[in-house]
Amino acid sequence: MLHDVRAFPQAPLQPLQLSWLSRAGIDVAVLRLDLIDPLISGNKAFKLLEHLNLAYANAAPGIISLGGAWSNHLHALAAAGKRFGFATAGLLRGQPQDTPTVRDLQAFGMHLHWLGYAGYRARHRADFWAPWQARYPHWQCVPEGGGGVLGAQGCAQIVAQARAQRSALGWDDYHGWWLAAGSGTTLAGLVLAEQGAHPVYGALAVPADHGVAPTVEALVGPAGAAYRLYDACRGGFAKVDESLLRFIAECEAESALPLEPVYTGKALLALRDQVEAGAFAAGTRLIFLHTGGLQGRRGFA
Ligand SMILES: Cc1ncc(COP(=O)(O)O)c(C=O)c1O
Repeated sequence: MLHDVRAFPQAPLQPLQLSWLSRAGIDVAVLRLDLIDPLISGNKAFKLLEHLNLAYANAAPGIISLGGAWSNHLHALAAAGKRFGFATAGLLRGQPQDTPTVRDLQAFGMHLHWLGYAGYRARHRADFWAPWQARYPHWQCVPEGGGGVLGAQGCAQIVAQARAQRSALGWDDYHGWWLAAGSGTTLAGLVLAEQGAHPVYGALAVPADHGVAPTVEALVGPAGAAYRLYDACRGGFAKVDESLLRFIAECEAESALPLEPVYTGKALLALRDQVEAGAFAAGTRLIFLHTGGLQGRRGFA
C-alpha cells in the first residue's frame, strides 16, 4: 500500500552570480529543485507527484516505469518506493549494465527488467503494457520520465514555489523561466501554471526531431504561445564535449552551483549563448530551473 506523498519541501530560490550575466546586466535566480531532498529531488520529484497520488488513490500495490541505465526518473521512483514503502519495477533500455544508478535501483529494491533496444522502442505501442500489467496486477504504469498530463500537472507547483520567494530577492516580478527540456513535460507544467503571465524558455537536451514540440503542444493546448524552444543538445542527447565540460567547471568555480553535463550544464550554456547574442535586454530577470539529475554526474567522473 502506498502512503500519501502529497507535499514536497520548498526549493530555495538563489541569486546566480556569473561574470557573463553581470556583463550583460541580466539577473538570474536559480530555483534549486536539486536541494529539496537528497534522493527524491529535481523535476523528477514533481513529475512523479500526481502519478504517486493516483497510485495512492487506487491503492496500487506498486509502480512500474521505464528508463535507461542512468535514468534520473527511475532513480527518484525507486528511492520514493523505498522511502514511502511501495514496490517498484523498472523496465530498462538495452542489455544489462552495471552503472552506479543501476546499483542504486537494486539497493532501493526495484525489480529490474532489461528490454533490449527493440523491446524498449516498442514502449509507445498500444499493447506494450499488457504483459507487464499481467505480471504486476493492479500496479500503476507510469510513462517514461514520469511524463504525460499527470507529470505536467505536478510540475505546475514549481511556479508557486518561485512566486512565493521572489520578493525575498528584492524582485517585484520576473520576466521568464529558463530550463532544460528532455520530453518537454516539465516545461509544459510551467507554461500551464503561468497561463501566459511569463514566458518559458526550454533548452533542448535532445535533438529537435525528438518530438518535444508536439509533446508540449499536446499538453499545453492554447497556452502554447508563451514558450520557446532552443537547441542546446550539442550534437545529441548526453553527448559531451570539451567546451561544455570547461564551461561547467568555470561556472561551478565562480558560483558553486553544481551542474551535470546532460541537462543543467547544457541548459546554462545555451543561456550564456543567448545572453551573449543579445537575446535579452539588460535588466531582464530570469529564473533558471535547476532540474536536478546530479546522480547522473557519476557517469562522467
Ligand atoms: C535532470 C533533468 N533535467 C531535465 C529533464 C527534462 O525534463 P522533461 O522530460 O520534463 O523535459 C530531465 C528528465 O528527463 C532530467 O532528468
